[in-house]
Amino acid sequence: MNLEVHPAVQPVAFLLGTWRGTGNGDYPTIEPFTYEETVTFEHFGKPFVAYTQRTKGADGGPLHTETGYIRMTEDGKLELVISQPSGITEIHTGTRDNSRLEFTSVTVSLSPSAKQVDRVGRVIEVVGDIMTNELMMSAVGEPYQWHLGATLHRT
Ligand code: HEM
Repeated sequence: MNLEVHPAVQPVAFLLGTWRGTGNGDYPTIEPFTYEETVTFEHFGKPFVAYTQRTKGADGGPLHTETGYIRMTEDGKLELVISQPSGITEIHTGTRDNSRLEFTSVTVSLSPSAKQVDRVGRVIEVVGDIMTNELMMSAVGEPYQWHLGATLHRT
């Protein structure tokens, strides 16, 4: 089935595809780390983009993974919905400046055993065939700050 990209998705069609690369992370309560990341953005002909992410640590073992959707609202705004197996869900509103998307959480919900996360910010930017992403958070009693960032190449 060869679906047309929904008109509402056209402004962010530069995301579509699979991207792979490396990142690094840190937080005051943990040791700095590096990781490999694979990210896929897909469309289904509807006004959203489906997102899947997987990471591996420097030792090749599995690290973080998450899935979600970027939604295009009827008035042209962006929303992001993310679900993590660590028991955290995030709902964001976002803005687009050319090929740079910036999201700020409006809700972070936690399962009873999840670590405390109060606020999350995400930036995704594409320049040519290079995607960079960054994540800021306020978690486990620490102020809002950088947790990780990665540079990915279109595969
Ligand atoms: C590329 C994606 C990510 C990677 C590779 C990653 C990796 C890590 C690693 C290695 C740690 C330290 C060990 C551990 O506690 O498991 C950690 C801690 C943590 N991460 Fe991430 N993380 C990612 C995304 C996220 C996201 C999206 C959130 C929440 C929105 C998050 C929240 C946390 C929290 C709350 C901790 C615990 C800090 C502590 O216990 O002091 N991480 N992360």
